[in-house]
Amino acid sequence: MKNWVKNSVVYQIYPKSFYDSNGDGIGDLQGIIEKLDYFTYLGINVIWLCPIYKSGGVDGGYDIADYKAIENQFGTIEDFDELLAQAHKRDIRVIMDLVVNHTSDKHEFFIESRKSINNEKHDWYIWKDGKDYKEPSSINSVFSGSAWEYDDDCKQYYLHLFAKGQPDLNWENEKVRDYVYTTIKWWMDKGIDGFRMDVITVLSKPDFIYTKGGSFEDCANNPKLHNYLKEMNKKVISKYDVMTVGEAPCTNIEEAKALVAQDRDELDMIFNFDHITTEDNEYGKWNKNRYSMPKIREILASWQKGLEEKGWNSLFWGNHDQPRLASRFGDDSTKFLLEKSSKMLATCLYCMKGTPYIFQGDEIGMTNVPISSLEECRDIESINAYNEFVNEKKIYDDSYMMDCIALKGRDNARTPIQWNSSLNAGFSKGKPWIKINPNYLDLNIENQIQDKQSILQYYRKLISLKKDLPVLIDGTFDLLDENNDDLFTYKRTLNNHEIIVMCNYNKESISIPSSLIKQINLGELILSNFETNLEDKLQSYESRVYLM
Ligand code: GLC
Ligand code: CA
Repeated sequence: MKNWVKNSVVYQIYPKSFYDSNGDGIGDLQGIIEKLDYFTYLGINVIWLCPIYKSGGVDGGYDIADYKAIENQFGTIEDFDELLAQAHKRDIRVIMDLVVNHTSDKHEFFIESRKSINNEKHDWYIWKDGKDYKEPSSINSVFSGSAWEYDDDCKQYYLHLFAKGQPDLNWENEKVRDYVYTTIKWWMDKGIDGFRMDVITVLSKPDFIYTKGGSFEDCANNPKLHNYLKEMNKKVISKYDVMTVGEAPCTNIEEAKALVAQDRDELDMIFNFDHITTEDNEYGKWNKNRYSMPKIREILASWQKGLEEKGWNSLFWGNHDQPRLASRFGDDSTKFLLEKSSKMLATCLYCMKGTPYIFQGDEIGMTNVPISSLEECRDIESINAYNEFVNEKKIYDDSYMMDCIALKGRDNARTPIQWNSSLNAGFSKGKPWIKINPNYLDLNIENQIQDKQSILQYYRKLISLKKDLPVLIDGTFDLLDENNDDLFTYKRTLNNHEIIVMCNYNKESISIPSSLIKQINLGELILSNFETNLEDKLQSYESRVYLM
């Protein structure tokens, strides 16, 4: 693992909602350029841009219509070059989103592909004949309904694991792979610093899903995936000083090792979802369950241990597909609790071993957006799920489903960044493309820059601590007091340096076990989210970091 990757703190930008420079209601590249000094202020050194390519517009940019062009609403390729140069000038690296499991159905390759079964591009996608006038097999798309779509011209079905507008590329076809590698090379030659790779674990599908059917999960981590990633690494990635992080749904620790162990020459890191899917039930994410700390502690610890020898973790609580950290894992019921729990959660995760990823807005404790009707939703996943659960299958009624969407929907993460208390939270002078969270009047970056006790100021301290202390980078991880239902405590050890991190996940004060009191009394308290700490108790969502 390259040192700079290990030492990085990454900030994820969802460009559409970051900052709008020209008043059309949509965040854009010039907007990011204007705000670059904010990243320096925060102390981060890598930004990851969610897709800014020309897109079919069905899935927030994750349906790419041209891999080498910028979507008009975001700007031009010149704007991108300027962003890259300006970021590099500030020692900020830039990674992009690589979405190559599928393209948009508006991509010229797919337009060709669907013209006829004899078209030279036909085999670039996954086409199969129907069975008795029905789909080739039974497999569902992640965004509800069948993953097969019939095409009248070809008289065949194409596979789309996501929306209809996102046909899956056929990775078996060498020309497809070469095209992807050339595209990667094109961006690397421009000077970008790496890629986050969208749903990279499902590139290779097992044959049985085309005949017998199966699930999305069956498509993950098939043997050929590793051939492809090794080939990609050998042909392009390894030739550049870049980082790669693969989005890895349905991946366990053993499978993860095969993807990220150094001697495998595949990826630097992956995002695994074990700790952010514990609330799921038979209806997937669409429920009102709340997580339990002991469960996620067990999961996080097992990943820490699992990748200790060979591999490296990515540390993230959320992203553009998840509800807001503060509302989901924290407590947004009062300003005080929001502040304490947001700081505690950041401490708990980012002091672990791995590269931290901060999703835009979490550094000020942005919360879920109150939505009451489907008209306010922008996300295809929520809209399709509503139709499936309420209209078609009648599993939930409108009000229950709207509650689920309010709790779990992806739009929560996608509301505009709250810069200040002026019109539209200072995000745009025009009408924003999506609702702004009404709490922006108080909860915004400007206020938190002024307030010494703010969540933002705490993030800055935490980030600089992470950079200053080698034990927080390379130290081993061990749970302490692991049967405690409320306190999440662990230590990091490197040579003769030790750090103890204690976090109270409860709103109530919780007693510190006496064995731990003795230990921490020997150390120096270097960070806490409370100004006054009690001898024997952690207060509401209190966190402490001790240097031993
Ligand atoms: C990934 C992206 C998500 C997108 C999906 C399909 O999970 O993070 O936003 O909808 O892939 O590309
Ligand atoms: Ca704009």
